Amino acid sequence: ADLALGAQIFNGNCAACHQGGRNAVIAEKTLDKAALEQYLDGGFNVQAIIYQVENGKGAMPAWSDRLSEEEIQAVAEYVYKQASEAAW
Ligand code: HEM
Repeated sequence: ADLALGAQIFNGNCAACHQGGRNAVIAEKTLDKAALEQYLDGGFNVQAIIYQVENGKGAMPAWSDRLSEEEIQAVAEYVYKQASEAAW
């Protein structure tokens, strides 16, 4: 997993709405493990994060046209690790 790439992609594309693992649009839908377990379609795992990043959901845009597969994989693994370790 390229976590340095993941962090870079996150800061450049996701932090606008998810600064510090929070959610600026829907406050309770944070990137903390408990919120991902509750709200993320498919549960708390890398594949489910990839799916949401590729397709978007509600007010969150889809990224499949703007980020490469490698970048999406990297940012999903970064989000998963941050949430797993309560590192936000
Ligand atoms: C939800 C990741 C960019 C707005 C989420 C969730 C993840 C995620 C994992 C699920 C959180 C939960 O349900 O508790 C990302 C990543 C991004 C990104 C990795 C960058 C590639 C953005 C941006 C915005 C945004 C730029 C605002 C324009 C939202 C909203 C939700 C959400 C509104 C809640 C969707 C719903 O369930 O209705 N995001 N996000 N996200 N994100 Fe993002």
